Amino acid sequence: MADTKLECVKVEKENGITWVMLNRPEKRNAMSPQLHYDMDNALIHFATDPETKVLVITGAGKAFTAGQDLALYFRGTANDPVERFNAAHASESWRSHRLINFPKPTIAMVNGFVFGGGLTPVVSCDVAIAANDAVFGISEINWGHIP
Ligand code: ACO
Repeated sequence: MADTKLECVKVEKENGITWVMLNRPEKRNAMSPQLHYDMDNALIHFATDPETKVLVITGAGKAFTAGQDLALYFRGTANDPVERFNAAHASESWRSHRLINFPKPTIAMVNGFVFGGGLTPVVSCDVAIAANDAVFGISEINWGHIP
């Protein structure tokens, strides 16, 4: 990952703990295609990073994540099947495969809002700890979808 610039993810390290922060606070860390690519790359890297003994996932600002980015992930890829496929693949990869199979302990540190597809990384971590003011929402019901 040394050569890969992360645009939507911030990383901090201290004493074997690596914090991976969803970092689009002005959009409540809604998961854009770029955020999915960044998370997929970050998890590949930290799986074998010797400085990473424990991985903590959290969100910058007021939210853990507001879920999929309704503008960039859904509408923004609606007429671009290649980008839609690639974004969906990365989205599924990091949330449902890389995190579940991560070779070191993982902790979801849930702050603020966590909506829709944002619950997947929470349940994919070994441990989830929520702040007292965390707000969970299965918002797919608004579109008549089962999460
Ligand atoms: N996708 C895209 N942009 C979003 C999303 C989202 N899921 N959530 C928030 N934003 C954007 C807003 O459009 C706004 O952008 P703007 O400042 O350019 O207008 C900015 O983030 C801040 O949003 P606010 O609504 O002003 O923030 P607030 O703190 O009042 O509320 C909350 C936060 C509760 C998360 C609200 O934004 C919300 O309900 N968002 C939608 C959540 C949702 O339904 N997610 C499910 C997506 S579908 C899925 O994941 C499968």
